[in-house]
Amino acid sequence: MKITVINGTEWKGITYRLKEMFLEPFKDKAEITEFYLPRDCPGFCAGCKTCFFGAQDKCKDANYVQPIEKAMLEADLLVFTSPVYVYHASGAMKAMLDHFGYRWMPHRPAKEMFGKRALILTQCLGGGASSTIKDIKDSLSWWGISYIKALSFKLMSDIKWENIPEKKRAKITAAVEKKAKKFLNIDYGKKSRTNLITKGKFYVVRMLQTGLGKKNPEYTDFNYWKANGWLDKVRPWKG
Ligand SMILES: Cc1cc2nc3c(=O)[nH]c(=O)nc-3n(C[C@H](O)[C@H](O)[C@H](O)COP(=O)(O)O)c2cc1C
Repeated sequence: MKITVINGTEWKGITYRLKEMFLEPFKDKAEITEFYLPRDCPGFCAGCKTCFFGAQDKCKDANYVQPIEKAMLEADLLVFTSPVYVYHASGAMKAMLDHFGYRWMPHRPAKEMFGKRALILTQCLGGGASSTIKDIKDSLSWWGISYIKALSFKLMSDIKWENIPEKKRAKITAAVEKKAKKFLNIDYGKKSRTNLITKGKFYVVRMLQTGLGKKNPEYTDFNYWKANGWLDKVRPWKG
């Protein structure tokens, strides 16, 4: 199996430690590709919308974005990590996600995303874990992923792992190991089920694209949906 990890920080702190803990049982079983942000995607979206018009390869950051996209599309499991920064995901994570706006369902979602599984891992001192998870989950779910789990911790303690009380560390370790075991037991030969929310979004956008295509048959997103057969009987979660 293949795992692609997007690390929202290059800092090897507690987030890194927990991510390593999660990946440990996969190390001799999976091919793991990791990206560290901002190093592996340092540019901000310029807002040119070239990607939305169908030429994502012309993005000024394409040499960073395309290898990330390739690794994500090939992966069976996606892992996103970020510490909480001012109640949200790291700016580097947000900057990377902006580059994939064109993969949101109302535009040109990749069929490979439907049926994929993902884990979001975050931790903070006290507050902001749920909004951080949402920052990442919003993109993943609009890319078409239904199976999105999260693992988050409030340290309520020191910023150094060694200084966190032993009992708390043991509790966090047990929770990470439990989640890893759960993900390890999945049969990645089978796609995950596409849930009703994802299907609902798909059908709303399908209606939208049909309307847009009537007004402008040259419209990029309409032609993409049409070419995939999604305006007919084909569905990205089947086959
Ligand atoms: C810029 C910045 C903003 C932060 N904002 C929050 C916050 O909103 N809520 C919180 O509980 N902790 C916040 N923290 C603390 C970190 O989330 C916490 O120390 C975390 O354990 C850091 O993870 P790391 O060791 O992987 O870097 C912030 C830290 C930084 C550097």
